[in-house]
Amino acid sequence: MGAKVADPIAPMPDIQTILEGLLGEAVAAAFGTEFADADPILRQATNPQFGDYQANLAMGLAKRLNQKPRDIADAIKEKLPIGDTLVNAEVAGPGFINLTLNADLLGSQLAGIIKCDRLGVPVDPTPTQVVIDYASPNLAKEMHIGHLRSTIIGDAIARVLEFQGQHATRQNHLGDWGTQFGMLLEHLIDTGWEQSDDHHIGDLNTLYQEAKKLDDADPGFADRARKRVVALQGGDEQSLTLWRMLIDESVRHMNDIFTRLGVALSNDHLKGESFYNDRLAPVAESLQSAGVAVESEGALCVFNDTDDAPLIVRKSDGGFGYAATDLAALRHRIEDLGGQRLIYVVDSRQRDHFNKFFATARRAGWVGDTQLEYVPFGTIMGKDRKPFKTRDGGTVRLTDVLNEAIDRAGKVIAVKAPDLSPDERDKIAKIVGIGAVKYFDLSNDRIKDYVFDWDRMLALEGNTAPYLQNAYVRIRSIFRKGEVDPATLDGGAIKLEHQAERALALQLLQLPRIVGSVADSLEPHRLCTYLYELASSFHKFYEKCPVLAADTEAQRLSRLALCDLVARTLKQGLELLGIGTVERM
Ligand code: ARG
Repeated sequence: MGAKVADPIAPMPDIQTILEGLLGEAVAAAFGTEFADADPILRQATNPQFGDYQANLAMGLAKRLNQKPRDIADAIKEKLPIGDTLVNAEVAGPGFINLTLNADLLGSQLAGIIKCDRLGVPVDPTPTQVVIDYASPNLAKEMHIGHLRSTIIGDAIARVLEFQGQHATRQNHLGDWGTQFGMLLEHLIDTGWEQSDDHHIGDLNTLYQEAKKLDDADPGFADRARKRVVALQGGDEQSLTLWRMLIDESVRHMNDIFTRLGVALSNDHLKGESFYNDRLAPVAESLQSAGVAVESEGALCVFNDTDDAPLIVRKSDGGFGYAATDLAALRHRIEDLGGQRLIYVVDSRQRDHFNKFFATARRAGWVGDTQLEYVPFGTIMGKDRKPFKTRDGGTVRLTDVLNEAIDRAGKVIAVKAPDLSPDERDKIAKIVGIGAVKYFDLSNDRIKDYVFDWDRMLALEGNTAPYLQNAYVRIRSIFRKGEVDPATLDGGAIKLEHQAERALALQLLQLPRIVGSVADSLEPHRLCTYLYELASSFHKFYEKCPVLAADTEAQRLSRLALCDLVARTLKQGLELLGIGTVERM
């Protein structure tokens, strides 16, 4: 039983790196070393008839060399060594170079990753300090559908970066300090909440709505609410005590949702706007003394070249707002947390705010070499293509979404696996239901809006979590049926004979590239697409290549090893997205 090793560095260069090296050498041999840096533009071939990879570099070189792409491709091909790595190279069309790899090389690459816990994904030897801001809801309202995307996209990104070995610090930048707390506290005082024994708030939304109604309708109340905010932000003890009670209660609700969602956020990552209260005046002072901010109509403003409206550091009533807080938080993240890469996973409607506040921080000289990355995302829409609402037009609470997801998943599973005990079914329904909601979100190009569609997200076919979880279940059942312990399998047994096996192998070897591309682009949907294609290739393989009933024992072991790698890749990939797998469904 080979214990799996967590190799710190990938055991060998991946296929694409090897091919890039060969192509670089061939270009240098054909045209001189000054051309060796040309991007080989490698793509996995879509049709296996044309080999495994296609290199499209001849087109790009045509201008630089002033020759026909086809002739360039021929010249490069002439210099490519045929042997251990490549078994064939052919020029096609206007100048594509089709490459066919040696099956033994693919096999030995797979043998390398089967022993490795990380499936060949290297650990970055020089990790970056990343600070990632996600979820960050405005408190005092319950978590609702508008909080879903930041929470799960941010969590997936943090997981991927951590898997790469980066040091990720999660920050939940809670909106816990805004003007709405004036009316909420005032209303709580009026209703005697602080005096009562039970500080449980069953329904934060009702509390908010009631306070809002009073604030709109009763000028006396609104006036008290305003004064309450000033008292609170000025450090008044009574206000602070009550505020703390309210925040604790809201945070409890929030953590509940995080736990159910399987999101790695806890009290350790809380750093609300209130945390920066003492740091706002110094921010304003340094901006002003540096000449970055100027007084305008009583407010302290930053005018950036391209802006139509300035960034407001301090309002004319002396209060600080969202922008000042973000500037203070940025300084904290760079100066105190050592952030080299600051990531903000926030709704695309805040683009303007981020442009302005990044520009301001740069002008103030606070950024240095730190990379600032705004990671925007689109809106969740209803079937009517308007922002998703409940049937009566209210905000959709996340609790309700999660309950419904589990409920619907339970029904799907009851049909699919009727012999499961109700207990087992409930456990599985949680993983499948929540996974479906998360995956559906993550699998969409993050910048686009998407339509929330229960039937599509829970479908057992297509690019969905249940489809991937089901592929995993299918493989696990092969091992159960064959009574094989995957830990006994040896990668050396892998022989790629059938086309479907080869296609699967090529895909399995892509994982390191995919993880790298998600970490760079911060687009989790790339991982989803990869997992979906992997599962589809597995199904094709499974149709054509009997596993337990293979012709020979050698073939059976080889195919089992492939199956194991697919299962582990699916499980690992889903885990990076924050989604679980099950053994049966
Ligand atoms: N609380 C804000 C909102 O709900 C999002 C905060 C995002 N993070 C940040 N550093 N601005 O709109």
